[in-house]
Amino acid sequence: MREDDKNTDMKEDTKQLTFGEISSEVRQIIERNKIPDHMVELSYERNEFFLRIYPTEIDEKAIHEVLSIAKKHLENWRIHTFDKNYISIQALNSSIFQTENILDNIKIRVSALSGEKIIEITKKGYVRPEELNLVISCIKRFCANKTHSPIEQLAALGCPVYYPEKEEMTLQNYAGYDSVKKQILETVIMPVQHPDVYDAIVKSTRKNFENNRPKAVLFSGPPGVGKTTMARILSKETGYYLVYVPLENIMSAYYGESSKRLALIFDIAAVAQNEKIILFLDEIDSLAPSRNEKLFEATRRMLSVLLRKIDGIESKKNYITIGATNRKEDIDEALMSRFDTVIEFGLPEKSDIEKILELFARQLSAGNRSALAEKLTGFSPRTIKDICNRAERIQARINISTHGMELPDVAVYHEAASTYAK
Ligand SMILES: Nc1ncnc2c1ncn2[C@@H]1O[C@H](COP(=O)(O)OP(=O)(O)O)[C@@H](O)[C@H]1O
Ligand SMILES: [Mg+2]
Repeated sequence: MREDDKNTDMKEDTKQLTFGEISSEVRQIIERNKIPDHMVELSYERNEFFLRIYPTEIDEKAIHEVLSIAKKHLENWRIHTFDKNYISIQALNSSIFQTENILDNIKIRVSALSGEKIIEITKKGYVRPEELNLVISCIKRFCANKTHSPIEQLAALGCPVYYPEKEEMTLQNYAGYDSVKKQILETVIMPVQHPDVYDAIVKSTRKNFENNRPKAVLFSGPPGVGKTTMARILSKETGYYLVYVPLENIMSAYYGESSKRLALIFDIAAVAQNEKIILFLDEIDSLAPSRNEKLFEATRRMLSVLLRKIDGIESKKNYITIGATNRKEDIDEALMSRFDTVIEFGLPEKSDIEKILELFARQLSAGNRSALAEKLTGFSPRTIKDICNRAERIQARINISTHGMELPDVAVYHEAASTYAK
């Protein structure tokens, strides 16, 4: 190393930026590049600088890009872990043989593991200018000029989005459940399709105008009775995007981060003011108070975020929240109170089962379907569909060995059903 190089090095080493300077710099970059606020999180706590970037997309290529950014800005560093989906970089001291306080140096952690997509940069003590440049390069590269719509961002955050125009399920091919369908039509579909009619009535009946259309609806019933399917039908019938929020997944995959993640999902949804969105909170009972102490804390935090965010989003137009649960009795009271309508999906009655069989075993006579329906009471539509599948496979096996082309008759369905327990 030449003498003057050494000098600049020493000068650089002593240059420190205050958190105020760093954050005003970062803020400027965010504003100049029109980066959505929720993509970057910056804090300084207990003498530690902390930056989090939530890019919508991180893949293997992005991980390599972070490496090359680090290489450009940091002199000495080493990779702790390098996995296809995960990298952890740690800066070394200017003399790589010196290990003193090495753990306080700047660290970069990138994760593209399923669900968790995050770039995290941390540094104890002060931040040097070249470290700030590294931070800014990362922000620019992973946040700026992204034209991803909120819908795309939600999908990237692990909330699959169903597009109404692509949905094939309709109310017509949802068999039976007439009273459920009627309630859905009256409480959600009609109000969405004709808001003016509802508003006109309220304007004349109430002293103070308020929206009387349901904002949050709870679907309650045992597994396999068509709650998720009905949410997708709702999207199709109303033209709203269905954003599937897998609470259970968020709870388990982002342990410790789960409530932040949930807040982020709602915040992104809330900026999509021009989009019409159904937020579908599936398995909402996963937020039921847990007996496990650690989990208890996590569920409590998730719950409080959820309560706050549901309130926030309810006041906006173009949003419907739908929750689904198999265990309504376990749901926290405050959460329960957020739902203005509860729709009960019970197990199908015999007449419903006959209609389901019309969909899945249409070759059977009405008499045979009725007899089979009798045997299938107590099963959910999902299990009934499974039984029909199994009957078809049994028949296929027979046809293959006999070179026949028969369709399963009622006896095959009875045989298939006999292996299922109620
Ligand atoms: N009324 C119905 N008519 C036709 N198929 C149904 C009906 N209800 C449920 N299904 C089918 O059963 C399966 C399970 O439904 P799903 O919506 O996932 O249930 P849940 O969300 O209540 O657990 C899906 O394949 C769905 O298409
Ligand atoms: Mg479901």
